[in-house]
Amino acid sequence: MSDEPKKSRLIEVAFPLKQASLDSLHEKSAGRAGHISTLHIWPARRPLAASRAALIATLLNDPGDPGERARLLEKLAGRIVSPTRRGRDSEGQRIDVSKQETVGGVLHWGRGEHSPDLDFFREEIRKANGGRAPRMLDPFSGGGAIPLEAMRLGCEATAVDINPVAWFVLKCTLDLPQKLAGQTRPLPGFVSDIPELANQLASGGGRRSTKGKRHDQAALGLQETSPLSAHVRAWAHWVLRAAEKDLGSRYPTRHGTPPIAYLWARTVVCRNCRTSIPLLKTRWLCKTRDNSRRVLLALEVEGKAVKFSVQSDVPLPRSAGAQKREHDRKLGVGTMSDAGVTCPKESCRITMPMEDIRVDARSGALGHQLIAAVVDGPSGKEYRSPTPAETASAAFTVEEVEAAFSAIPFGLPRESTPKGGNGASRAFSVDGYGLDQWGKLFLPRQLVSLATFARHTRRAHAEMASAGYPAEWRLAITSYLALVFDRLANQSSTIARWNKNGQNIEGTFARFALPMVWDFVEVNPLSSSSGSYRNSIDWIVQVVEHLLEAHAKSSPPQILRRSAIEGITTKVDVIVTDPPYYDAIPYSDLMDFFYVWLRRVLHGLDPEYDDVFAAPLAPKWNHATADGELIDDSSRFEGSKDRSKQNYEDGMARAFKACHEALTDDGRLVIVFAHKHPDAWETLAAAIIRAGFVVDASWPIQTERAGRARSLSSAALSSSIWLVCRKRPALARPGWDNRVLEEMRARIYTRLNDFWDAGIRGPDFVWAATGPAMEAYSAHPVVKKANEPGLTMGVNEFLGQVRRIVVDYVVGRVLSKDGAEPITGLDDVTTYYLLHRNDFGFEDAPIGACILYAVSCGLSDNDVTDTYDLLARTGGKGGSASEEEDDDGSDADEGPGEGAGSKVRLRSWDQRKRKSLGLDATGRPAPLVDQVHRLMHLWKAGDVNKVEEYLEARSLKRNQTFHKLLQALIELAEAGSEERAMLESLSNHLAILPAKDNRQRDLF
Ligand SMILES: C[S@@+](CC[C@H](N)C(=O)[O-])C[C@H]1O[C@@H](n2cnc3c(N)ncnc32)[C@H](O)[C@@H]1O
Repeated sequence: MSDEPKKSRLIEVAFPLKQASLDSLHEKSAGRAGHISTLHIWPARRPLAASRAALIATLLNDPGDPGERARLLEKLAGRIVSPTRRGRDSEGQRIDVSKQETVGGVLHWGRGEHSPDLDFFREEIRKANGGRAPRMLDPFSGGGAIPLEAMRLGCEATAVDINPVAWFVLKCTLDLPQKLAGQTRPLPGFVSDIPELANQLASGGGRRSTKGKRHDQAALGLQETSPLSAHVRAWAHWVLRAAEKDLGSRYPTRHGTPPIAYLWARTVVCRNCRTSIPLLKTRWLCKTRDNSRRVLLALEVEGKAVKFSVQSDVPLPRSAGAQKREHDRKLGVGTMSDAGVTCPKESCRITMPMEDIRVDARSGALGHQLIAAVVDGPSGKEYRSPTPAETASAAFTVEEVEAAFSAIPFGLPRESTPKGGNGASRAFSVDGYGLDQWGKLFLPRQLVSLATFARHTRRAHAEMASAGYPAEWRLAITSYLALVFDRLANQSSTIARWNKNGQNIEGTFARFALPMVWDFVEVNPLSSSSGSYRNSIDWIVQVVEHLLEAHAKSSPPQILRRSAIEGITTKVDVIVTDPPYYDAIPYSDLMDFFYVWLRRVLHGLDPEYDDVFAAPLAPKWNHATADGELIDDSSRFEGSKDRSKQNYEDGMARAFKACHEALTDDGRLVIVFAHKHPDAWETLAAAIIRAGFVVDASWPIQTERAGRARSLSSAALSSSIWLVCRKRPALARPGWDNRVLEEMRARIYTRLNDFWDAGIRGPDFVWAATGPAMEAYSAHPVVKKANEPGLTMGVNEFLGQVRRIVVDYVVGRVLSKDGAEPITGLDDVTTYYLLHRNDFGFEDAPIGACILYAVSCGLSDNDVTDTYDLLARTGGKGGSASEEEDDDGSDADEGPGEGAGSKVRLRSWDQRKRKSLGLDATGRPAPLVDQVHRLMHLWKAGDVNKVEEYLEARSLKRNQTFHKLLQALIELAEAGSEERAMLESLSNHLAILPAKDNRQRDLF
């Protein structure tokens, strides 16, 4: 390898961080019609905006000249504006809202894809790569965001993933639309027999009423030939029509209106009186946030059964806020509580503990009962009791279910569901309640419906042959029909819930977990509402349309179902990838939900598909070959947490080595990290360095909405860190810790000033600073300790020092307001307090950011919550997906919900009342902030003598840092607050209050 200095890439010098973050967030919240996240569920898909920005900035060289660089960045990411629009506040009052957004650039979803500047970037990328298309690899491709963007930018992409479902999604995202982009063929004859379909096709997908009319294709204005997307729509309607014929009678209508969904509860037989008790966590069926719909379920016990009635228009209480919430909570009390389930029969009322319910569930003794039907009414959703016909038509015998599967390869899905446990398997609890086979996650009617749709999807493939479709088209259309099927399956299990606020179905994977759900929703697949088959067709067709356009100029991809550890034999110019993070998401176990169905729908259609879906379930870890899915899951290692963690880390190191082999000498590796524990990514960073890479930049792109459960879950950050690496020169020699640290210090302040001036703040600032600091360290294969012969400085130790510099810089910078002097000598706890107070005040703060700050200050999360009593866990999840209206069932939360305590809040001085506050403990001197808080308590108690004694005993009067801290706390306290008054009196008492003009200058 040549040791010539290489040209820097744009991403190694500058990155449009703010714009990439704004556009990534926009992508998550804006209308997602056509977005790949609506093609198929895949956990933790990266935003296209972030992927596109990272690829362009990695593939282009830095222009060198600041003016040219600024122009290039603006072309890439546009400018930030803050228009004011009319909106509503939390009370529903109309107000002016100013929100930052981008204008211009090529990153914004829905705008960037059509920008003529994309051609400019394709050209520039090619030029920068010596006039040929760069080869790009993503060894952990998942849902394919990164390779899709690489292809859009003109790269030759290789997309690798070990999971067959991911492979299939990649096939549908990258390969099939690339092959058929630009091609058209005549629509099948049946189109004109289905007026609804003909009309949609003629109007480019939109729906129009065509009741009773028959059309011929030309009269309808249909093109002579149509692209793949139109054929997918046509054949999906063919499947729907066939399924309607078979299933129509099992979804009866009332007064001509079909229910859009059915609400169910599981039931348990009362141990005492034998009543069949519905397991209801709440009796609220609907409670919209604006209070326009308030619907409650009423129960009445008749004999051994419970009958339901619906109370619409439940009056609003006069109270507001917490009182209203409490009123509504009491009104809606269900049969279930933490203690178990209480029998609703007046004369019984015994409570069966959860353990009893679990035992019954395991023995298959739980039943289910239809409790309400939801219909689309003239003024929104309406709720009513089910009719006897509706209850009867939902019942199927075991024989009927078996018969529905007789024509489906592999029959009923009897493959095992994942076992619940610790670590990654904490996502699963269904198995513990007897739902130990995938087929058991469905009602009998859901199973029969899915089997019917699967059968007709398979028939469609055969029918296309008779209609003269070439093999490539048949496979492509059937593949998208399988995706329509999977969308329906996601909405059709007994894990799907009714979102009573948004009044929509939350599919099985509203969270990336399989928890037991007691009261669930069943979609009517034949309706036209959200979650139905018809609705799923629209979502899939729109993505196919988008993909055909995206691939208009792309080259054929290579899609490999294999382990990243195996590597690839061709050399690539760039690797951009987003690996799995320890135990964050058990991809393979979760996605087996879809695997078992895809295997049945696709079997026999194509030899490659059969090969990929040959095994009963997707691969986990293969002990014989020491290869498989990279995930920290101790259940795969006989419960050994250590072995599991080690296996994951070794596997990642092997995968990075394979990346090193695949990369050209001047290539770049960009890795995305999204784990809140700095330790986790330090371990991975160490593996990257060991594999032969130098880390030279890192950018924290905010990719998740701060309020989503995902960003607050156990392992997720709202920012993902994009780490940029290049190959270390072959002749690089071991380094010495003192020199490496010196070099790092010499460089870091310039970068810190740059980042600060660029407006990067909070935890992002710490992450952004880490990459460039690591350059000095990772330039050497190993860093030896100059004063301790034989010992080396680990990456953790090095980064510990870096983070402390960064944190001291922030504390000094923020608190001195007009100066950039880093603060030194402040104790860890006080440093943490100031950082936290400055960023979050006394509001709820995400635990991920707090852990990063704590670790940066040399503390653990336990230190700040328990040992020093600085933070209280509020248990807030900041608005879970269940509270959001999220109609499209696309990728939602990243990890299994953590439960209580995902948010923390700083305790105010008057909440910190431990007797030992401000007193030294053995081996633990009292932090300065604790000393201030103790003094405040003494001052409030009016005990001036004790204040004096304390000040004297600790020599605080002469301690300049103490004076500065006091002054800083005054500045941070709210004007007019008791805290501020108290601090000012103390300050006056000490006679340290300087003349007003000098206040700021004197701080730190
Ligand atoms: C964070 S996800 C990638 C998400 C992707 N960037 C996207 O936008 O959808 C990590 C992926 O790594 C895959 N994976 C896990 N172990 C693997 C291995 N040994 N080889 C290849 N892929 C693996 C998982 O199946 C998962 O799709």
